[in-house]
Amino acid sequence: MDVAVVGAGRVGTAMAVLLGRAGHRIRAVAGGDATRDRAARYLPGVPVLRIEDTARSAPVVLLGTADAAIEPVCTTLARAGALGAGQTVAHLSGATGLDALGTAAAAGASVLSIHPLQTCPDVEAALVRIPGSAFAVTAREPDALELGMRLATDAGGRPFPLEDAMKPLYHAAAVFASNYLVTISALAETLEEVAGVPDARAALGPLQRATLQNVEAVGAGAALTGPALRGDAGTVEANLWALAEHAREAVPAYVALADLALELASASGRLPAQGRIAVEEVLARWR
Ligand SMILES: NC(=O)c1ccc[n+]([C@@H]2O[C@H](COP(=O)([O-])OP(=O)(O)OC[C@H]3O[C@@H](n4cnc5c(N)ncnc54)[C@H](OP(=O)(O)O)[C@@H]3O)[C@@H](O)[C@H]2O)c1
Repeated sequence: MDVAVVGAGRVGTAMAVLLGRAGHRIRAVAGGDATRDRAARYLPGVPVLRIEDTARSAPVVLLGTADAAIEPVCTTLARAGALGAGQTVAHLSGATGLDALGTAAAAGASVLSIHPLQTCPDVEAALVRIPGSAFAVTAREPDALELGMRLATDAGGRPFPLEDAMKPLYHAAAVFASNYLVTISALAETLEEVAGVPDARAALGPLQRATLQNVEAVGAGAALTGPALRGDAGTVEANLWALAEHAREAVPAYVALADLALELASASGRLPAQGRIAVEEVLARWR
């Protein structure tokens, strides 16, 4: 299949490389100044053209720009007559809906999105991590859905269909699973440093890896440990006093996450009602 990539950044370039390896022909790529270097390095021989010429070069066009640029770039291309009947346009965003491709659809193109549920800080990481990752595929028409499933599979992904209306919720889950996990890791590292732990990041690494391995192996409910699960109100109280003294800004996050941990612990059937009440009484004083 002939494919063009408008916005060959980290993910767009990696998708082009992976689809090329699967036998698709990458006709052209486009983007800003950095795209030219990226293409020379990862896609030798693939022409770097203007966005309009890139979109015209293939029946399948991937829009790999940042989320905010998907709609304006698509509109520019559709108004220039570079996207239309006989073409399929796919963006790569998890949070953005198909409406962002509305001008291409109005011009007669099929539209869809394929989103690798993965974090890709650079092209190299994307090339390693995208194969084996889950991919959300969103389309209104069965043919477009089928094409999206095929592209995701050919890139090495494990695709599943996702309703357009569910994309913001799906993406919020990804933000919790990845971005806020990183945010909480940064907080934990700072707190350990304040406590005097040498090389805090390295010290936390084995704990964090084991935790994620447990979640993946047995599910979150069974993997949960700690004071909320035990109904250990005294430890929760001691944690909160320490935070109030050394990192007051972390108190609301601790209380909010303790609420969620209590829910999880109760749902897993491992937290006796009395323990839950005792922890809730402590948390109520810190809201
Ligand atoms: N990175 C991730 O972890 C990740 C994971 C899953 C999905 N995604 C999704 O993948 C998409 C791309 O993300 P990314 O991280 O790969 O972004 P990125 O590395 O910033 O790449 C964006 C690309 O778009 C080009 N570009 C920017 N403005 C443009 C414009 N007005 N017209 C044409 N091209 C333009 C950039 O060119 P220059 O670089 O030359 O400026 C670059 O080639 C987004 O929808 C994102 O949500 C990202």
